[in-house]
Amino acid sequence: MEFAGQTALVVGGSSGVGFAAADLLQRLGAATTVTGRTAETASAAVARLGSPARALGLDMTQAASIDMAASKIDGLDILVVTAGTTHFAPTEMETADGFSATVETNLSGTHAVVQALVPRLRDGARLVLTTTALARRYFFGATALSASRAGLSVLVNTFANELAPRGIRVNAVSLGPIETEAWDKAGATAEDRSGVAQTVPLGRLGRAEEVAEAVAFLASPRSSFVHGHELVVDGGWSVR
Ligand SMILES: NC(=O)c1ccc[n+]([C@@H]2O[C@H](COP(=O)([O-])OP(=O)(O)OC[C@H]3O[C@@H](n4cnc5c(N)ncnc54)[C@H](OP(=O)(O)O)[C@@H]3O)[C@@H](O)[C@H]2O)c1
Repeated sequence: MEFAGQTALVVGGSSGVGFAAADLLQRLGAATTVTGRTAETASAAVARLGSPARALGLDMTQAASIDMAASKIDGLDILVVTAGTTHFAPTEMETADGFSATVETNLSGTHAVVQALVPRLRDGARLVLTTTALARRYFFGATALSASRAGLSVLVNTFANELAPRGIRVNAVSLGPIETEAWDKAGATAEDRSGVAQTVPLGRLGRAEEVAEAVAFLASPRSSFVHGHELVVDGGWSVR
């Protein structure tokens, strides 16, 4: 029970890699709260977790929603932010709304969530964000997604410097293609999945549980001198 006696909040824990991270943190002993865009999606996740985790609605594009959720949180040891949206459109077909909504959610939203929750972190807490290998590598149609996640590298750098005086460690997990609900939401077919899997040196998509292990490592004392780092979990996709 590595995290016994600790509290964790997983923003985006209602689905995908956030759900897997919440599940693992909870099983390792952390009293865990998960958020979804609404209390309903968060509660559904808590029901699936089958554990005493707590559910909160938090829409990272709405200041009032972030403030309301933050007011219900205190004394956090572990803050994980995986929430975000997936959007693909080649440049010529992109809309102003598609681009700005992606950046607003993934980049501005993450910034706003962390800003609101920093006062709720204990000294010595760990902050883990998620970014993506797409931030550094071209992928057809991923302009908005890549731009929004590239901005997160700046946030990791900034937060790592600004929160270090309080002993708060800040790192990120950089995702390759991971099999989650996000693929269904983006309309990906079985052919799409196998086509992408063929571009991964390990020859398959990653599992959300494999990302959760990286999150737990960065949240644990096992990574006590790792700070301002992006841990790549992508089956070698970014070095191909
Ligand atoms: N899976 C991959 O292959 C992959 C690769 C690279 C990057 N990423 C990125 O990593 C992030 C997480 O991926 P995933 O696979 O875990 O995605 P996912 O299964 O679709 O989960 C997304 C999570 O973000 C929450 N969310 C979405 N919009 C939100 C908003 N406006 N405010 C607050 N929460 C919001 C969702 O809440 P609800 O359940 O309420 O909708 C859900 O908890 C996404 O941004 C995705 O683009 C994923």
